[in-house]
Formats: sequence, C-alpha cells, structure tokens
Amino acid sequence: MKRLASLLCLLSLLLVAAVAQAATDATGGKGVLIVAFGTSMESALPSFKAIEADYAKAYPGQPIVWAYTSDIIRKKLAGEGKTILSVNQALDECARKGIRDLRVQTLHVTGGEEYIMLQRMIVRNLTKNPGRFDHLWLGHPLLESSRDLEEVMAAVLDGLKKDRKAGDAVVLMGHGNDRGPGDLPMARVRAAFHEKDALVFVATVEGANSFDSVLPQLKAKGVKRVHIAPFMVVAGDHANNDLAGDEDDSWASMIRKAGMEVVPHLHGLGENAGVRKVYLRHTKDTRDDMANPRKSD
Ligand code: CO
Repeated sequence: MKRLASLLCLLSLLLVAAVAQAATDATGGKGVLIVAFGTSMESALPSFKAIEADYAKAYPGQPIVWAYTSDIIRKKLAGEGKTILSVNQALDECARKGIRDLRVQTLHVTGGEEYIMLQRMIVRNLTKNPGRFDHLWLGHPLLESSRDLEEVMAAVLDGLKKDRKAGDAVVLMGHGNDRGPGDLPMARVRAAFHEKDALVFVATVEGANSFDSVLPQLKAKGVKRVHIAPFMVVAGDHANNDLAGDEDDSWASMIRKAGMEVVPHLHGLGENAGVRKVYLRHTKDTRDDMANPRKSD
C-alpha cells in the first residue's frame, strides 16, 4: 500500500513536470511582464494598447502578461468584473506559463514610491519561490539617465509641434511624490524642459514641483494660449480631472481664469512612439537580473 502511494506520488510529480515542460515548450521559456500603476479609465487604455503592440512586435510569440501595482485600482476594476493581476499574481502566472527567462518592464516614469514597491514585490516573490526563473530582467523606469530625458523631451515636444503656434506655452502634469525619491527627478525634468524651451513648464500633482509657481510665470511672460498635457504614461484620472477637468481647482480652470486659452492634449506618454522606444530600450538593455543578484566579491 505504501509502495503504491509513493508510486502515485512519483507519477503525479512527473505529470506536474511534464505539464510545466509542455508550457515551457509552448513559450520557448521566455516572456514579458509589463507593470503599470494602473488606470480605471477606459479612455486611458490606448496608451497601454500601443505599448502592448510594440512589445508583441519586439518579442514575437512570447506571452505578454500585465500587472497593476495599485491595489485600489485593481479593486475598483474587480467591482466592474475586470480582473487585473497584482505583481505577485502576475509572477505566479508567468511561472505557471512555463516562463523561465522573464523580462519585467515597469511603466513608471521615475524610480519613485511605486517603483520601489514593485522591486520589493519581486524580491518577496523570488524569495518565496527560489529558482522559479533562470533570469528575471528588470527594465527600469522611463527616466533614469540624461539620455532618457533628452529622448523623452524631444518626443514630447515633437508631438506638440504641429498644434503649437509661436508664443504658445506648454504645461505638462507629472505625478511626483510627497514622500520618497520621486520628487527630485521631477525637479530635474522641470528644469530641463524649461532650459530647452522657456515656454514649457512641468509641475506635479504631488511633491515640491507644484503648479502654484507656474501661473505667475505664464502671466509674466504674457502668454495667450497654453497647451496642457499629462506627463504620465496614461491620460487617466489626474489628466481628465486635476489637469483638464471643469472643477474650479483644475489647472485648466485656473489658466482660463487668468485669461488664457487652454488647448488640452489628453494623451498619455505611452501614446507617443518616441517615448515607447525608451521603455523598449530599457527592457532590452537592462543588466539588472533580479533572479541572480550579484555576489559580493
Ligand atoms: Co495619483
């Protein structure tokens, strides 16, 4: 009896191994996990769709799995009957699909609060499941080098060029962080755009780079028309409400109240091909293999 039980146990182990092997054969053992903060707005999805299409082209035949870091957004979507995986669930799903060599790309703009959380979630999952991936290459956020910033600035300004007349200002809404390291990179983004073009202003929803100082500068420069756009991967809740909404305290309302015309561009950064190129470069070039942390010398 005991022998039969152990034989059955062995058979089931072999079956599990065979299923995993079949899954690995189907995917070539490779796959991509794209991680975003998330959005509950349908109108924000073109950005994610364009990103997905680029990745499907860059990694043909490989499964592309998505995860949102925001529990609040996942819960809201679950209430509408839409299931979006958490990072932990998505990593389990990748392993279940037989992926051994996983590329993870974050869609966060800077290495702020949400990105740090993502790193922590990956470490926790790998610690609980040692050896589940041969490689886990982490593609870093959009802006980490001066080259990234130059390319993103060029892409964003190019995208606005055809609608912008001489003397028109641009106001970009970044997210920023009240706490954590998302604040200082956005200060650099703000300064860099302004150095490149004195009529381009970047401010953030959270953190020290607030919109308060922008309005007096627009007035001082005698600006008549202002193009507003999100500096976030999607044109979601912040873009549609805090930036361009009808409420008195939206940036659009404040600019209009000061007597200037507002031209909204409600497109996320992910809808810009030049920006997507930077994300893809990060995915391809990363040397950050979280499944094989560097050993100390
Ligand atoms: Co927010």
